Amino acid sequence: LARGAAAPDLAGRHVVISAGGTREPLDPVRYLGNRSSGKQGYALARTAVARGARVTLVEANTGLPDPSGADVVHTGTAVQLREAVLKAAAEADVVVMAAAVADFRPARYVTGKIKKKDGQEPAPIALVRNPDILAEVAAERATPGQIVVGFAAETDDVLANGREKLRRKGCDLLVVNEVGERKTFGSEENEAVVLGADGTETPVPYGPKEALADTVWDLVSARLV
Ligand code: CTP
Ligand code: CA
Repeated sequence: LARGAAAPDLAGRHVVISAGGTREPLDPVRYLGNRSSGKQGYALARTAVARGARVTLVEANTGLPDPSGADVVHTGTAVQLREAVLKAAAEADVVVMAAAVADFRPARYVTGKIKKKDGQEPAPIALVRNPDILAEVAAERATPGQIVVGFAAETDDVLANGREKLRRKGCDLLVVNEVGERKTFGSEENEAVVLGADGTETPVPYGPKEALADTVWDLVSARLV
């Protein structure tokens, strides 16, 4: 399907997309965060609107303007993102987890700003695991035939790691990016391989995030019953 062709193949479908990166607060002024820009998730939202879908975009800390035609839910932390995604997923045909969810959060939130003290080493920060939202959505399958898509940024043995992750998460499609210098974070372009639970591999050449988004929708569309 050509980019911009806007075949309404997602008409009547509700798609939920998460985008951005969660921030896990440590005290009122500090957080653990990541470099996700949210641009790939927003490209997915725009292209899904163009293809006729009803779109719920659950964003975390992107600072991007709401895409027109999408319902946008603003969140901050992994726990908040999980709540918003699960709620929307309850009546979704497709869930795409493009957000970078923090794997860990500080074990406790300090209500007053943490201060340094003269002659004292800093205290270590204890972390706890965040829930795995993608695995939860994939295990749940809140609606019949729901399609679940994950994203993964990998280094080293990118495809083998991706295959393993796809199996572990239980999703239908996993978009695997190779991370490196110019690649992915904050850029307008992306290169990826989309792995299918059915064993398929769809390479997507380096190009606009909208083109990758359209490839994802092509693959999703073919799997919707
Ligand atoms: N994800 C999620 N919840 C988490 C962590 C990740 O839903 N707590 C989702 C991401 O949105 C993404 C996919 O899982 O779609 C893969 O994220 P990734 O960080 O690559 O996977 P992890 O299982 O966290 O593995 P790793 O140890 O490599 O970070
Ligand atoms: Ca992770």
